[in-house]
Amino acid sequence: MGLGTNFHDLGARAGRTVPGKTAADYLYTSIVNPDTFLAGGYQDGLMSREYEKLLTRQQIDDLVAYMLTLR
Ligand code: HEM
Repeated sequence: MGLGTNFHDLGARAGRTVPGKTAADYLYTSIVNPDTFLAGGYQDGLMSREYEKLLTRQQIDDLVAYMLTLR
């Protein structure tokens, strides 16, 4: 399983992971509040909850934009 999920097609599946959430919304939430939508098979608390404090809004938006390109 590794440290986290496989990101190879993350941008493609992000929009269908949580009904009603856009891909960008899902990714943003998964970074700033990783326990809101736990990826299948993972327990909470594995991913740091500090990224909203550690990163600027611009940096988070850039990460989301990059992850959307992973297909
Ligand atoms: C800037 C750095 C990081 C970004 C942008 C990021 C992003 C994400 C995203 C988007 C997901 C959802 C994945 C999915 O739907 O398949 C996720 C889940 C996860 N991440 Fe991270 N991550 C980061 C750092 C880390 C680090 C350093 C760790 C471990 C030391 C980690 C561990 C996990 C784990 C275990 C999950 C699955 C459990 C869950 O959904 O919370 N992440 N991460």
